[in-house]
Amino acid sequence: MTEVKHTIIDEIGLIEISNPPVNAISASVRKGLLNSINELGANNLIKAIVIAAPGRTFLAGADIKEFGKNVDGPILSEVCDKIEVLDKVVVASLHGTPLGGGLEVAMSAHYRIAAPKTKVGLPEVLLGILPGAGGTQRLPRLCGVSMALDMMLTGRHVNIDEAFKNGIIDEIAEDDDTVKNGISYARRLLKRNSDVRPTSEISDKIDNLDEIKKTIEKIKSETLIKAKNLFSPHAIIKSVEEGLNLSFPNAIDNERRLFKECIESPQRQGLIHSFFAERAITKVPELELGKPKELKKIGVIGGGTMGTGISMAAMNAGFSVVMIEQNDEAIEKALTKINATYDRNVKLGRISSEQKNQIMSLFTAVTNMDNLIDRELVIEAVFENMEIKKQVFAKLNTICSKECILASNTSYLDVNEIASVVENPSRVIGLHFFSPANIMKLLEIVVADKTSDDTVATAFLLAKRMKKVPVRSGVCDGFIGNRVLSKYLIGTYHMVEDGASPFHIDTVLRNFGCAMGVFQVIDLAGGDIGWATRKRKAPFRHKDDRYVEIADRVCENGWFGQKTSKGYYLYGDGIKPLTANPEINIICENERQRVGIKPKSFSDQEILDKYIAAMVFEGVKILQEKIAIRPSDIDVVYTNGYGFPRWRGGPMKYADMVGLDKILLNIQKFSEEDPRFWSPPELLIDLVKNNKNFDSLN
Ligand code: CAA
Repeated sequence: MTEVKHTIIDEIGLIEISNPPVNAISASVRKGLLNSINELGANNLIKAIVIAAPGRTFLAGADIKEFGKNVDGPILSEVCDKIEVLDKVVVASLHGTPLGGGLEVAMSAHYRIAAPKTKVGLPEVLLGILPGAGGTQRLPRLCGVSMALDMMLTGRHVNIDEAFKNGIIDEIAEDDDTVKNGISYARRLLKRNSDVRPTSEISDKIDNLDEIKKTIEKIKSETLIKAKNLFSPHAIIKSVEEGLNLSFPNAIDNERRLFKECIESPQRQGLIHSFFAERAITKVPELELGKPKELKKIGVIGGGTMGTGISMAAMNAGFSVVMIEQNDEAIEKALTKINATYDRNVKLGRISSEQKNQIMSLFTAVTNMDNLIDRELVIEAVFENMEIKKQVFAKLNTICSKECILASNTSYLDVNEIASVVENPSRVIGLHFFSPANIMKLLEIVVADKTSDDTVATAFLLAKRMKKVPVRSGVCDGFIGNRVLSKYLIGTYHMVEDGASPFHIDTVLRNFGCAMGVFQVIDLAGGDIGWATRKRKAPFRHKDDRYVEIADRVCENGWFGQKTSKGYYLYGDGIKPLTANPEINIICENERQRVGIKPKSFSDQEILDKYIAAMVFEGVKILQEKIAIRPSDIDVVYTNGYGFPRWRGGPMKYADMVGLDKILLNIQKFSEEDPRFWSPPELLIDLVKNNKNFDSLN
């Protein structure tokens, strides 16, 4: 329950805010805070005011749920201004994560004390907005323009030592007792006769305008490259830059105007959707029932790209790892790769060599699978072939303890079938890591028919320890991510055979905000992988399915992308990034001629429409079949594992923003030409009929 109360202790007024779980600044918090400030401010017996928010954290920012809605009550900016102009010393006592509006409240106080593990930040940029309660004006006054812009453009959480060193915090407390810390600091300030100290009047860090101008110009040009598609980073810089030449009240008005522009931007909707979507992923039925097991010892089978990546992800999280490879040569190769990765991290200063040694001490690589006997979880990452995987699992069934969880890192195969060779299939699960597994955040947790709730709960706990973004998926060919990928890849090749150039398609997707175009991704992953999948699926393909052979022709040349220095693009020393392979266009033309297609031209919009329609089409199917629990889970998979722009919220959110009626119309139009591929899914028809969107299913 939200509560803002104030009490008087001697000559100090104490305001305590409570709005669990993170003390977000909702309308009622703002109202309560303003009320307390007014009352305490008018009380002549009071000489100082302390603002604290006992509980998990000091105010973690504005209540994000209120954005875009009409809510009553004072705006935070007004509350902050009122705090700053009080004629009594105001202390903010911080702990936890005072972020966004929370730090803005703290900066409008005259002094700040913080508990030892406090982290502060203005992460609004990650939500597509800017600090709209004076943050763009007060932070530069406390720590200087360069650091303030760095904080606001990255949204990073700054630890207490750095915050103290740079003037954001005045004192570091000895413990976490935020009320006691605030009161004792206020007493000390009164004893020292410390005066009120409005942040708006501090100017020593912003008076060297020539130097600051240069700094801003540099940051501006870097941001143009780093955040070229984004709106709010540029608004943040603008607010700081323009504010320097305005009176403080005018600068605050200007910040407010820019804040409103951000709030109205669709990027804000997309980013805030991503924020909540990433918090919804752990709301899965098995977690309510299952009991997670704390793991310490992990086994990894296979020392290839995935096996080494998974091993490093596990070691980084402090697990001991036994890796199994077939022979000494393969072990040597895996070890070299792992060593090289950590050496690079040491060289870049990310870890010390002691840390590297400590991490490597967690690792053993052997050929004998009997060494897995004491493992609590074994993750199989061998070649993507059902027979091989079944052999491995049958062996694990005899070697590992009965409690050991057996996981497959398969990216497409049927986990139920893999589990069928294990006596107790309730301990079998899919853990689909993404490459490079030590870096990529996404982890699909694939729940098979007989997987137990405890096994699922343990997998989610593992993901948490590995700092992964876990998304629950049911079993189907390719799970959530690769199944959607298969659909739009096929749709993309249809477009190419119909006349679109792969390079045009990639450009459209990059301009849309995707990290890479489809054909760049194929080159990165290796064309041979998709080729093997197509061969595996060939016997099951319906004779009337449209099958485009362009990709096979490319692979038949041995052009698998980056690993062979040639694919849709050319790679190698002296070749500029993204140099198109000119022979691709010839292959496309030959194939069109062979099948008798007269090429037509595609506009950017036509390419985008088909790409999105294919993604949404398969996303809906996945929901219909209950492979994904909710549309936002599909969004999380795509924004965390497939380079879909986070600021567009993910494919399902983007479809909501475009309008499901429009998406359905497109699918209906495409299905006139190819009903086998595009027959509109029931759920989508229902949603449109009932005037609902995907968000209504979240
Ligand atoms: N508003 C509303 N709800 C919030 C929230 C916020 N600012 N911050 C967190 N929550 C909710 C989460 O959605 C979650 O809800 P459920 O339990 O229902 O899923 C719950 O609080 C706990 O959050 P986490 O699971 O993220 O908890 P955590 O301990 O892992 O992390 C945190 C805590 C670091 C504060 C993290 O939640 C976070 O980063 N929150 C956002 C902070 C932020 O961006 N603040 C700026 C807001 S914008 C602003 O302030 C604009 C301005 O200028 C006025």
